[in-house]
Amino acid sequence: MRPPKPEIRIVKNAGELSREAAREFVRLSRDAVKLKGHFTVALSGGTTPEGLYELLADQADTFRNNIPWGGIHFFFGDERHVGPDHPASNFHMAQTSLLSKVPVLESNLHRIEAENPDPDRAARNYEEVLKKIFQLKSGEMPRFDLVLLGMGADGHTASLFPNTSVLRERERLVAAVRVAKLGYCRITLTPPVLCSAACVIILVSGEEKAETLLSVLQGDFLPDRYPVQIIRPDEGRLLWIVDSQAARLLNIEGKKKERGNQNEGREFS
Ligand code: 6PG
Repeated sequence: MRPPKPEIRIVKNAGELSREAAREFVRLSRDAVKLKGHFTVALSGGTTPEGLYELLADQADTFRNNIPWGGIHFFFGDERHVGPDHPASNFHMAQTSLLSKVPVLESNLHRIEAENPDPDRAARNYEEVLKKIFQLKSGEMPRFDLVLLGMGADGHTASLFPNTSVLRERERLVAAVRVAKLGYCRITLTPPVLCSAACVIILVSGEEKAETLLSVLQGDFLPDRYPVQIIRPDEGRLLWIVDSQAARLLNIEGKKKERGNQNEGREFS
């Protein structure tokens, strides 16, 4: 079956991008908790989602009071190989901007324990966490209700970096990646996990991302060069929320073409 077409929503600025994503978060979490009693979300790191996390926590009337916090299981799409208090830790950012301010259940907080000196062991351990919480049988992938992602100016997403072997991973749920230019290892959910989600939202802000975004959305399918192109949920929704600076090179007419391009059966192998 062909993946559904991505939706691309262009908003005015970074503030509007956070508000748009927050509205989606409220809707999706309420619907899931109403339907099945819980909502599973993988948070992204980087700087772009910080505004979203702060809105969810700080705007009581519009957001915080409308979210079923007790029913939400929080996971992470990737983590840097540092401890949870380190300024580069994605958990630390999410904890500071969101998780410490809202009534989440401690038992529903599933962080990647990247303080483990062995990043491969940390990845294996997180895989076990996913298998347990999602009650996976051998060979099954977890189906997150929502995966939040960003995109780097080099086209990476989560810790799927250009020309790295993890882009071809098909069996592992979580992998440790070593990228020379980063200086430290990262631990990331793998492509089959990210593509099994019920909904993926990719947040992109800033004009330094404009050229890459044009190539990713309207150019050829080159996932080794632009790993974010791998994200095509098999049976889920893909929503890009992009601010006008990042979208400045996209042409509205071209978007039709690009939606086709991303989904016309081009396989990455
Ligand atoms: C991380 C991320 C990463 C991020 C992009 C975009 O740990 O840094 O998960 O994939 O989403 O690099 O980052 P910005 O939002 O900071 O541009």
